Amino acid sequence: TRAPGRDGFVVAVDQGTTSTRCILFDHDGRLVAVAQREHRQHYPRPGWVEHDAAEIWRNVERLVPAAMAQAGARPEDVVAVGIANQRETTLLWDRRTGEPVGRAVVWQDTRTSDLVEELAADGGAERFAERCGLPLATYFAGPRLRWLLDADPALRERAERGEVLFGTIESWLVWKLTGGPDGGVHVTDVTNASRTMLMDLRTLDWDPQLLDALGVPAAVLPRIRSSAEVYGRARTVVPGARIAAALGDQQAALFGQTCFDPGEAKCTYGTGSFLLMNTGREITRSSHGLLTTVAHRIGDEPASYALEGSIAVTGSLVQWLRDNLGLISSAPEVETLARTVQDNGGCYFVPAFSGLYAPHWRSEARGVIVGLTSYITKGHLARAVLEATAWQTREVVEAIEADADLRLSSLRVDGGMTSNNLLMQTVADVLDAPVVRPMVSETVSLGAAYAAGLAVGFWDDLDSLRRRWHRAAQWSPHMAPGRRQVEWENWQEAVRRTFGWIR
Ligand code: G3P
Repeated sequence: TRAPGRDGFVVAVDQGTTSTRCILFDHDGRLVAVAQREHRQHYPRPGWVEHDAAEIWRNVERLVPAAMAQAGARPEDVVAVGIANQRETTLLWDRRTGEPVGRAVVWQDTRTSDLVEELAADGGAERFAERCGLPLATYFAGPRLRWLLDADPALRERAERGEVLFGTIESWLVWKLTGGPDGGVHVTDVTNASRTMLMDLRTLDWDPQLLDALGVPAAVLPRIRSSAEVYGRARTVVPGARIAAALGDQQAALFGQTCFDPGEAKCTYGTGSFLLMNTGREITRSSHGLLTTVAHRIGDEPASYALEGSIAVTGSLVQWLRDNLGLISSAPEVETLARTVQDNGGCYFVPAFSGLYAPHWRSEARGVIVGLTSYITKGHLARAVLEATAWQTREVVEAIEADADLRLSSLRVDGGMTSNNLLMQTVADVLDAPVVRPMVSETVSLGAAYAAGLAVGFWDDLDSLRRRWHRAAQWSPHMAPGRRQVEWENWQEAVRRTFGWIR
């Protein structure tokens, strides 16, 4: 039997790069139902990656009722809805028809590289970092929005008149859920806004100088709200339910891992991998290639910030091995294939498919496989693929340790790739630190659920959430120090070979 006020479920929607998931959690933070669906990736030109936002919305429309049906939940059993989303993916839609204008441009898309270079020519790549915490790079939403408006003068005029709206995916979903053209609320949350290059990290508001520099009309922008507060009630899908949280998926994972205190960090291994360390109320500037970003903001409380090491390509490299090379038929097979050999055979694979993100920020970098000899088999290649994720983790861990002047005693991990034991062991080996995974590995959804549940009083406070974190697995380092050092130097040499491909 449940205590009064403890009945009901929180619905979490995790709208990720490759799929959308809807998960229901009960008051104990237990996962009670899950429904998932992939959406199509469009690659119209080399370096371009697009999603159909209408398809994503249709998936949400189907998945939420499907997950609710599994749990036997009615709309009135839903105490709140929380959304976590792929960040930086940029979309415009028509305020009147409620339809997307063109496809959403995905965070991995590099079409803005010339624009970014142009902007950096006048003041350097760091020219806006003091305000927004980010270097100029193709990764972020603001330059993408500028590109879309520049590409179509008529669209820019409509944007200036407020006829089209800009949003990242959480904005789109909240607007659709709360009624779309019929009274939908046009909002974003501070974590997503902190990835646009348009928000001042101190004021947590759109910055007129940044808007001006990036040529973005204010009329197109959503209102920036907290990560946990009631934005409105759903008019469709879960009619009447409170939409009470939105966070970028990586910030959601940090929240779901209950990294609420400064110094606590997690790494989520998905399409890309993202290591975030909570730095508390302090805005910590990086001098080692990390991003300064908002971790969360609950209601009217001050925001918490984070340092982030973003890695563009990790899980997507395994998919590439499967889809583009056909070396494996399913992603988990990469582990079996890698275990057919003892080591990498001298082969290193740097997957700079979207340039290199943290800590290098080299948009012109392109991928390399080095150290090939006739000895190399597909097993070695599979190992090099997994090691690429581990070494990239080490690069960002070193940057975080240098910026924050501390040593990470262990790393909390989550995400799809954490079911790969060989990979997790390799991460522990190259970091020379234990790697730990919690019971609920769906930390992105859990974080969105926690934030929504806090906003409506379903959960009391952060401490009560912290008590729900339990360790499920741990990997301890075994690699000999001499070998670690040699491999690390080889990796760094391989990385240097990716630079300067496009002039
Ligand atoms: O910044 C991009 C990130 O939010 C994407 O995460 O898990 O959807 O690949 P994921």
